[in-house]
Amino acid sequence: MKRQIREWIENLAKAVLERSRLTMILATLLAEQRNRAIRHRVEANLLASGEYGDEIQQGPFRGLSYPPNEDWAAARFQKVIGFYEIELQAPIEQLIAEKRPYTDIIIAGAAEGYYTVGLSHHFPQAAIHSFEIQAHRREFLERFAKLNQLNDRVTNYGYCDPQALNQLKIGKRPLVVCDVEGYEEILMDPKAVTWLTRADIILELHDNFVPGIQTLIRSRFGDSHEIERFSENGVPYNQFPLLNKLLMSEILALTASERVCIQNWFIMHTKNAENTTT
Ligand SMILES: C[S@@+](CC[C@H](N)C(=O)[O-])C[C@H]1O[C@@H](n2cnc3c(N)ncnc32)[C@H](O)[C@@H]1O
Repeated sequence: MKRQIREWIENLAKAVLERSRLTMILATLLAEQRNRAIRHRVEANLLASGEYGDEIQQGPFRGLSYPPNEDWAAARFQKVIGFYEIELQAPIEQLIAEKRPYTDIIIAGAAEGYYTVGLSHHFPQAAIHSFEIQAHRREFLERFAKLNQLNDRVTNYGYCDPQALNQLKIGKRPLVVCDVEGYEEILMDPKAVTWLTRADIILELHDNFVPGIQTLIRSRFGDSHEIERFSENGVPYNQFPLLNKLLMSEILALTASERVCIQNWFIMHTKNAENTTT
């Protein structure tokens, strides 16, 4: 009898837990749908008033043309208005201002090509090797590059793994931008890809998928690189005058991140940079 009561209580607890998990998942899905609906309405209004369009307005890639709004792309509003990954803008602008003589830029996890196209534009001397598994995102990237007359510069590969990186003919000064949802644990390994020791690396860290990834990366690159960490800080609303015209509920929907935790990046400057002028 006692055992039966214990089992009954355990089953009841499990059912309550399952139900609250289900409620949480449903609430998240509903909130995303609501944000999406608000985003569509506000974007349509701003498009109609001419205040939002197809040209990136701020940030390091200001002035580049973005494919039209009907072509779905992740975080389009953030990218076009110019606050997408705003924490990385100053360090990227610094690389651009210094005119770092990169021979190759490797983008792992390119999505629709924000970094691929933006960096191709600023580093005309570099060969661009862009990797993205999803075909529809590679097609978008192709259109985005073409719009900016950069399509001849970009090689648009699919899956990226250490073998694919080792097959590239990499020059003296590579830059890597890596955002691969946890696969950085395999990809960012200088034992598997030795040229990484002489690359500058901008790495999005996925602590949620790979617990301990920051420590692991520091242990792999601590000797060969100066490592600086950048953390998500939120959107500085006052730097984006367009947002002043919107309701707070609309701003929150437009700036909502679908990330599951506070985002961290490492920017890693190699101590082994080779002189490309010799
Ligand atoms: C969060 S998105 C990157 C967003 C990008 N930083 C941007 O600016 O838009 C991550 C992308 O990495 C791609 N991806 C994940 N693992 C990959 C791999 N091993 N090779 C190529 N692409 C990969 C996914 O398909 C996804 O599009």
